[in-house]
Amino acid sequence: MPVTSTIDPAFSVGLVNPWLFGTFVEHLGRCVYTGIYEPTHPSADEDGFRGDVAALVRELGATVVRYPGGNFVSNYRWEDGVGPRASRPRVFDLAWRSIETNQVGTDDFLAWCTRVGLEPMLAVNLGNRGLAEAVDYLEYVNGAPGTRYADQRVGNGHVKPWGVRLWCLGNEMDGPWQIGHKTPVEYARLAQEVAHAYKTFDPDLQLVACGSSNPAMPTFGDWERIVLEHCFDDVDLISAHVYYEPIGGDDVSFLAVSAHMDRYIRDVVSTADHVAAKRHSQKRINISFDEWNVWFAARHAEKEVEQTAEVTEAPALIQDVYTALDAVVVGSLLITLLRHTDRVGVACQAQLVNAIAPILTVPGGAAWRQTIFHPFALTAKYARGTVLMLGGDHGQVDTPAHGAVEQVWAVATHDAQSGELAIFAANRSLTDPASWTVRLGAFGELRLVEHLVVGDEDHSAVNSEDFPDRVVPKAGVSALAGDQLSVTLPPASWHCIRLASR
Ligand code: AHR
Repeated sequence: MPVTSTIDPAFSVGLVNPWLFGTFVEHLGRCVYTGIYEPTHPSADEDGFRGDVAALVRELGATVVRYPGGNFVSNYRWEDGVGPRASRPRVFDLAWRSIETNQVGTDDFLAWCTRVGLEPMLAVNLGNRGLAEAVDYLEYVNGAPGTRYADQRVGNGHVKPWGVRLWCLGNEMDGPWQIGHKTPVEYARLAQEVAHAYKTFDPDLQLVACGSSNPAMPTFGDWERIVLEHCFDDVDLISAHVYYEPIGGDDVSFLAVSAHMDRYIRDVVSTADHVAAKRHSQKRINISFDEWNVWFAARHAEKEVEQTAEVTEAPALIQDVYTALDAVVVGSLLITLLRHTDRVGVACQAQLVNAIAPILTVPGGAAWRQTIFHPFALTAKYARGTVLMLGGDHGQVDTPAHGAVEQVWAVATHDAQSGELAIFAANRSLTDPASWTVRLGAFGELRLVEHLVVGDEDHSAVNSEDFPDRVVPKAGVSALAGDQLSVTLPPASWHCIRLASR
């Protein structure tokens, strides 16, 4: 179907927020152990972290990383993970029914972040711990030498405070599965106390209150409102989490889940702004979309099996292998996040390695890029400058789950300094190609630099240890004539098109 759009610098949403390209490392399955950390691996650095994985993390272009959970954090004792490795305890992790060896803890992780160039976002345990432990932890991480916990850190070889700016106040506290699950008022009171103490320590911290675990939760909306009514003055962001999968084989709706994420963001923004309005406040609480991805949770109904399975170190949990179709969905979700650059303060794809991740590893062996690695890396690399919405007609796809959605889902970024224009677009039809005309008259004379497409005629194609490059970005079909760009978008495809001033 032919569709026509116009891109114009006047359609600006705001500057590209680099923190949209965050990731997540949880002590879950093989994300940490035999994921980022494996001291016996041939590529391991002096501290035991895998060099091959670190190289892929740099190539992925992630900016922020959330740690150490996730569900894991709600039963976590930060004290167990610091000090000499030989004296750290082995403990039972209730979230994932695994043995946690504590061989990686806060200092090790923060040092790794420095080496790979990631901004850390730490989550504190508000599940089975409270205000006192949360404050001790902040002092351990960020305190200047000369007080008890800061000096403990100094004694562990880290004189300089880590200066962590981003903090999550618990994780998914609305979820009945969470250790220490709370009602909205119980959580809101605790989060407010912790937030107040944290801001007293350092008013420049960026604090994230827990929003709903997903928009299908029965308390969605009310949870955000109640939490913000208590915490509004002390927090900066409210979290959002969502995972997508084809439900009942409905790939048509699955390919259009970016429309669902779009609505979810609008709903949380409306709720936050409602609380602001009631307080006559101009302060804006933004979203920390600190868990999002494709996750075949239905397959994870192996949960029953896990309950009875042997409890081991680093079990191979939720190692989803992503298809070409999943990569298109991930690319389209990144488009949604970019379109909300003004209200999404942080976003973290969950997770980084092995557990629902863009990178897979073999213990002692190879590391490779999953299909979903590619749209993330291209967007993180080329989205620069100002985010621009597109005007025009973008076609239509009728979906059972989301109703009618635009067929071509797109956004652009323009870097006025370099003159680079990047267009990110997904064809959300499973069956129909789109012939897309993009009017670019407002940008003066342009040249086409590159057009890369992610997708495959075989929607189920995957990358593997034996064929790590089965699905990689390929050259797309487009032509620039004067100020009109013509693009062919095959069904279920994601595109990154780069242009520059002549
Ligand atoms: O990312 C996997 C899990 O999903 C996280 O631990 C939890 O916060 C969410 O439910």
